[in-house]
Amino acid sequence: MMRWEDLEVPSPWRLEVVDQLDSTNEELKRRADLQHGEVLLAKRQTAGKGRRGAAWHAVPGESLTFSAVVRPAVPRMSWSRLALAAGVAVAEALEEIRLRPQIKWPNDVLIHGRKICGILVEATPEVAIVGIGVNLGNQGFRDELDGVATSVFLENGEEVDSAEFLVALLASLHRWSDEIGEGFPSLLEQVRMRCALTGRRVSLKTVDGGQQGVVEGISDRGELLLETLTGRHAYLQADEVRVVGP
Ligand code: BTN
Repeated sequence: MMRWEDLEVPSPWRLEVVDQLDSTNEELKRRADLQHGEVLLAKRQTAGKGRRGAAWHAVPGESLTFSAVVRPAVPRMSWSRLALAAGVAVAEALEEIRLRPQIKWPNDVLIHGRKICGILVEATPEVAIVGIGVNLGNQGFRDELDGVATSVFLENGEEVDSAEFLVALLASLHRWSDEIGEGFPSLLEQVRMRCALTGRRVSLKTVDGGQQGVVEGISDRGELLLETLTGRHAYLQADEVRVVGP
């Protein structure tokens, strides 16, 4: 494989590769004057962050861990749609290597119900930071990740070239991170056609408690539509979504 440092990535992205960091999201947040298009990739993260303060464990050489700086041309309230855009981008990159990923609203990518990618979007006053962790070469997962996580290798037995995968993913991320404005119909279509939750019974944790119901789909505003005993509810965000039934 070529050296990361020599890799050419598609415009508008500019790639910086470092050997080790606590977390690419945290490092970018510490920096001043972030510019649209900066991508920071760490070969190893010592304190990778997941959503809700969870840790994100990645094995160096087996997973891709990077963060991209995006300055969306839309109001801040729409920035959370970047999680959907990143999910679609990862899904497309996986499809290019003949896998069939699904998107678990709002920001996980699954294959056969197991998580292959996590996405953490954070915002500074100026920009959004889209953190992406994808499991590529992992040959197995231990402890609490066993049976819950998967990787490209576990799904198709192939060694994927991480650099090629990153290039495909960034090209797709550029395309979809531009589609989060008004109505975002094409992005929504991409999410809906890969939605892992539609028709499933789920349990949802939100800031105001828990809820169970059957997912009807994704609304035109990107919300999860849940049919519950008390009627239909729409959620723009959730802390946790767990599939509890068929
Ligand atoms: C989740 O599923 O909870 C989100 C995981 C996000 C992990 C990525 S790896 C690159 C970037 N840096 C971090 O510390 N986290 C994100």
